[in-house]
Amino acid sequence: MQIVKYPHPTLRHQSKPLRRVDNDLVRLVRQMFDLMYENKGIGLAANQVDLPYRLFVISLEGDAAKKDLELVFINPVLSQRKGMEEKEEGCLSFPGIYAPVRRPEKVTVSAYNLSGQEVRIEASGMLARCVQHEFDHRDGKLFIDRVAEPDLQKIERKLEALEREFFDDRSRGLIPPDDRVVSRLAELEALRT
Ligand code: CO
Repeated sequence: MQIVKYPHPTLRHQSKPLRRVDNDLVRLVRQMFDLMYENKGIGLAANQVDLPYRLFVISLEGDAAKKDLELVFINPVLSQRKGMEEKEEGCLSFPGIYAPVRRPEKVTVSAYNLSGQEVRIEASGMLARCVQHEFDHRDGKLFIDRVAEPDLQKIERKLEALEREFFDDRSRGLIPPDDRVVSRLAELEALRT
């Protein structure tokens, strides 16, 4: 498992709800947390590890020792968005790039956890922001899509550098062509969604 970087096509994929929680999914979620900690992140969505599932993980302190802070969101639904706030965001699929994003201050999220139980959280502050950022990933939406034009101009060069890196990696055979990425996602969806 590895984190795919912008503009990898899986980051734009509309993921599907998972059918069930089983041991494979538990293992997969464990790998996602470990990878997230290794990369100094506080949230990671399945799309970012090249998987077409409506699933993300969050641990706000990004501390591998604090397993009690780990939150898993399977087939999440958002409701009751309140207020609006602008804060700087980053994303593990956009290393070194940060920009201000406007989002509701509070949001209610319902999702299944790894025990298959439905959990409902009224989130505010950092958790609300993180939940909304990760929630977007499952629909192929990225934080740069929500950055206002003048701020987007400031990060344009860095985005172009990531694009060059991606196409360079692809030309060296490190990243499969789009049709292979798409057919692999379809196979995974047929198995689990
Ligand atoms: Co992200």
